[in-house]
Parts: sequence; structure tokens; C-alpha cells
Amino acid sequence: MKKILTYCAIPVATMFGIYLGFPGFTAQAGDINQIYKDTCELCHAKDGKGSEAGKQFGVPDFSSADYQKSRTDAQMKESMTNGTKNPNYVKLSDLGVDLAELDNLIKLVRGFSQ
Ligand code: HEC
Repeated sequence: MKKILTYCAIPVATMFGIYLGFPGFTAQAGDINQIYKDTCELCHAKDGKGSEAGKQFGVPDFSSADYQKSRTDAQMKESMTNGTKNPNYVKLSDLGVDLAELDNLIKLVRGFSQ
């Protein structure tokens, strides 16, 4: 009689579970574009306008000059450090982002609007 071996595949979902508060996921310091790609694109999209999921969460459009004018760097930093009133917005340290990278991330975010 043939023995049939069945293997449990590791749920693929765990690989996608890294975004929200998964301990041990630390963005690589130094490469700001990589951090954005790994950690921010999920909600803010490649072009900064917001992904479908991000729009549901209420992300601002980083490519909008009006939005950019409405926020100072200090205000952005405050939101990124402590979160905002929006319950969908987590502070970036919860995403494994080194707070030392915030100034560079703000520059990157500013760069979406020309
Ligand atoms: C889970 C989705 C999600 C992820 C991931 C995410 N954001 Fe956001 N982000 C939001 C939402 C939602 C808002 C709007 C918050 C609000 O208006 O209160 C926001 C707002 C912001 C703002 C504007 C804050 C302000 O005061 O106007 C900045 C800057 C920002 N995000 C940067 C980032 C960066 C950089 C990353 C990656 C390191 C990131 N976000 C990852 C959802 C996300």
C-alpha cells in the first residue's frame, strides 16, 4: 500500500503579516527608499497618492501641493512619532521604523509634490 504523505504548507499569510506590529521586523537603517517601499507603500502607494487600502484608512495625498502646504515638518513628525486621532494610523515606531529616520522620511514625502 502506498503511503501518502501530506505536508502542511506554512500559511503564506504569515509572510504578509509583517506590517502591523510584527516584532522583529526592523527596517534597514540608511536606505530611505527601501524603508518607504517596505513599510509605507502598503498604504501610501509608490506615488504617494495612497493605495486603495490607504484611501480606506484616510491617507492624505502626498502629491497634493495643498496638502503639503497644510502641514509643517514638525506637525508631520508629531503624527509619525505619536500617531494621530485617526485610529487607522499607527505611530511609525510600531512599524519598526527607527525614529532617527523621520527627517529623511519627511523629505521623501515632501518630494512627492513638485
Ligand atoms: C497602515 C497604513 C499606513 C502605513 C503602513 C503608513 N501610513 Fe502614513 N498615514 C496613514 C494614514 C491613515 C494617515 C492619515 C492620518 C491622519 O490624517 O490622521 C497617514 C499619514 C501620514 C503622514 C501625514 C501626517 C500628517 O500629520 O499630516 C505622513 C508624513 C506619513 N503618514 C508617513 C508615513 C511613512 C513615512 C510611512 C512608512 C514608514 C507610513 N506613513 C506608513 C496610514 C499609513
